Amino acid sequence: MEDCTYVIFGATGNLSRIKLIPALYHLDAAGRLTDGMKVVGFGRRDWDDGAWRSQVRGWLAEKQTEADVLERFLARFHFCQGDLADEAAYPALREMLLGENDFSHNIVFYMAIRPAEFGKVSRKLGECGLAGEKGGWRRLVIEKPFGYDLESAESLNHSLSRDFRESQIYRIDHYLGKGTVQNVLVFRFANLMLEPLWNRNYIDHVQITHSESLGTEGRAGYYDGAGALRDMIQSHLLQVLTLVAMEPPANLDAESLRDEKVKVLRSIRPIPQSAVNAHAVRAQYTAGKINGEKVPGYLDEPDVPEHSVTETYAALKLFIDNWRWRNVPFFLRTGKRMAKGNSMVAIRFKHPPQQLFRETQIEQLEPNWILMNLQPNECIRMEMQVKQNGLEMRTETTRLDASYCGINPDQLDAYEALLLDVIEGDHSLFLRYDEVSWAWKVVDPILKVWSVERDYITGYNAGSWGPPEADRLFLRQDQYWRNTL
Ligand code: BG6
Repeated sequence: MEDCTYVIFGATGNLSRIKLIPALYHLDAAGRLTDGMKVVGFGRRDWDDGAWRSQVRGWLAEKQTEADVLERFLARFHFCQGDLADEAAYPALREMLLGENDFSHNIVFYMAIRPAEFGKVSRKLGECGLAGEKGGWRRLVIEKPFGYDLESAESLNHSLSRDFRESQIYRIDHYLGKGTVQNVLVFRFANLMLEPLWNRNYIDHVQITHSESLGTEGRAGYYDGAGALRDMIQSHLLQVLTLVAMEPPANLDAESLRDEKVKVLRSIRPIPQSAVNAHAVRAQYTAGKINGEKVPGYLDEPDVPEHSVTETYAALKLFIDNWRWRNVPFFLRTGKRMAKGNSMVAIRFKHPPQQLFRETQIEQLEPNWILMNLQPNECIRMEMQVKQNGLEMRTETTRLDASYCGINPDQLDAYEALLLDVIEGDHSLFLRYDEVSWAWKVVDPILKVWSVERDYITGYNAGSWGPPEADRLFLRQDQYWRNTL
């Protein structure tokens, strides 16, 4: 691996403290960083390298670290004092990075800052000559939200592309860094027995659920302007959908993989504004209990505007109009303050064509399910029917666990894999702009209707599995939500 310099804008913020720096530490401890790899924090504080290093040491004090690795790690840290809006700060940064210091000229610019600043900072980098790839590569890392709707995503892309080429931009969707999400691809494409069944002939429907028992956790300022549909569905859950539904790629290189994902997004049947209510449900949590503890409703959370109608729960029904999936519904669902924090893909198969056993009607025979639990437990489970013990020919459900089912203590943090991929120049787990834009096209009509019909939003009790209204998305009475394993 080549040496590089990681520049973190927003170095002293939450993302840097909670995710980036611990992930870089783990990579260092695992021997995955080269000796010449350096981390430059860019921030407003009046700090020198020493002060920045003590700050990082303080953050890592809560984690398990080894003394010699920690010293090696801290020695990589340098600080560049500056304000994002200050014209003079960028030439100073340039001087630090490309001047007399022995920093590698392969540079990652990580934007751990508010999305509203992405365009401005990338412009400043371009203007001071830090975007061009003279003497080393230059990569720009940004994280969702990539815009607020299709139009703003386009304008963000337009401003980034003035100074950085698409091949220099790494758009993180941290869900793709999760090993369990990547396992969807391995399970599908390393097991021949699944492929003949993986289509409209055998699959009744697919559910993708991300539920959280947590609320807005001090992020209401951002969350109230976003809502569940933008926060989780437009980004993470549509990405999971592409992995479940895509055709086998020619190989796993970034372009082949992303081409196939884009084909899925392009094939999603557009939802006309007149059909939004038939395809989407939104709701907001009211007070309730989680694990026996009382929790307030969304409107009583700190920093939530008094009459907010922001949805903290969203469920969608989508159809993918292609040869493999036509008329198979994909149900996507997410919510805050639900009964349990869990993420799962549940694939329900059709009933066998004939009922031979004791249940009176075919619908009473349990169908097969494949459950891919993404977190907190990792698990791929198949539910099959076998004969019940006893004299009669009755069926019962048995579970086949195709992978270790439990909490994996060695699960890597999603950021570790992604930060390394940026250094290695591997785009496979990052979003190409056309993916972002097609994902906005899927949700935009719903966002438009919801933003106008603002006078009414259904409630659900905190600690429940969401509003009963979500059941109306199903096509038949024998369809029901699978919440956890
Ligand atoms: C983030 C959302 O992108 O993903 C959060 O902004 C959400 O609201 C989080 O809680 C969920 O990801 P994870 O990895 O914490 O389950």
